[in-house]
Amino acid sequence: MESGRFIGGEEVSSFEQEFASYCGKKHAVAVSSGTSALHLALLASMSNGKLKRGDEIVTVPNTFTATAEAIHLCDNKIKFADVDDYYLMSTENLRESISPDTKAIIPVDLYGQAADMHRIMEIAAERNLLVIEDAAQVAGAEYKGWKTPVADIGCFSFFPAKVLGTIGDGGAIVTDDEALARKARQLRDHGRSDRIGGKYEHSLIGLNYRLDAMKAAVLRVKLRHLDDWIMQRRRNAALYNELLSEIPGVQVPKEREGNKHIYYVYTIRAQDRDALATFLDNAGIATQIYYPIPLHLQEAYQFLGHKKGDFPVAERHAEQILSLPIYPEISGEQIEYVCDKIKEFYAR
Ligand SMILES: Cc1ncc(COP(=O)(O)O)c(C=O)c1O
Repeated sequence: MESGRFIGGEEVSSFEQEFASYCGKKHAVAVSSGTSALHLALLASMSNGKLKRGDEIVTVPNTFTATAEAIHLCDNKIKFADVDDYYLMSTENLRESISPDTKAIIPVDLYGQAADMHRIMEIAAERNLLVIEDAAQVAGAEYKGWKTPVADIGCFSFFPAKVLGTIGDGGAIVTDDEALARKARQLRDHGRSDRIGGKYEHSLIGLNYRLDAMKAAVLRVKLRHLDDWIMQRRRNAALYNELLSEIPGVQVPKEREGNKHIYYVYTIRAQDRDALATFLDNAGIATQIYYPIPLHLQEAYQFLGHKKGDFPVAERHAEQILSLPIYPEISGEQIEYVCDKIKEFYAR
């Protein structure tokens, strides 16, 4: 506050360096939200000639709408590939979804765990496709010892509820690609020339997708605690797994071998899900469904011409998934209470 520098500046550039280094990448470009990170990553890729209007981009139907919004807002075509048992992009379905028009893939690291990134990258390399990882939910997650994003470009969200959240909206693009980072920096700030003294010289048409300094300052402090919080979330998930694994009717979330899941949310699959959610609500336990309607069945995406049955795994999951309370400070007693209530529900 005393510095009087409320947008950009030292706090933002320091956070960018610290977060890039935390992710093991060369550059982080802090932006106003995860949605703007995805939009800017695509705009910067177009500006660098890696994509053009009308190109097809494959993503998954069980994601937050922002992933597909970014594709559509760049005049690219949305193509969906169904998911696997981990709630993540199925590489088999990805192969089938790729057409001659496909030029990029946006896998989504849902719930706190990376998609099968090496296999996705292999498929992309075979066909010369760009990969932009939607890493909105996975700050601090690992895949085979690599911090997310595994792809050359990753987009994070710092929405307050995220494992690394700020005091409002925030996001970042993380990449090793210097040209892309440079374009994204310009585009987030009205396409301003990066020439010193070029404040009112605009070499590109851009947007205002900048991050506020206060939000960056909060992120710098919280980043120091991220690994501890992840450790606590993983310990809490392990207790849930232990207490729930014997309950028929409940399937605990699977962690792929080699993955470090950060349990942004802890999502089970439950028989008679809606009745269970009501039962838990009556016992004072809040639950959530991420996401109740897959994108291909949402009103906004009807123009794509999909129908029920097109992505059966995502659709089945949407009917069964339920996210239970998880955060670093939740106590063992609270987790036991939730699990006892679930047991009670299925014993009725
Ligand atoms: C998978 C996914 N992608 C993109 C976003 C968009 O991020 P934000 O809400 O920061 O715009 C979110 C956040 O909710 C998300 O979960």
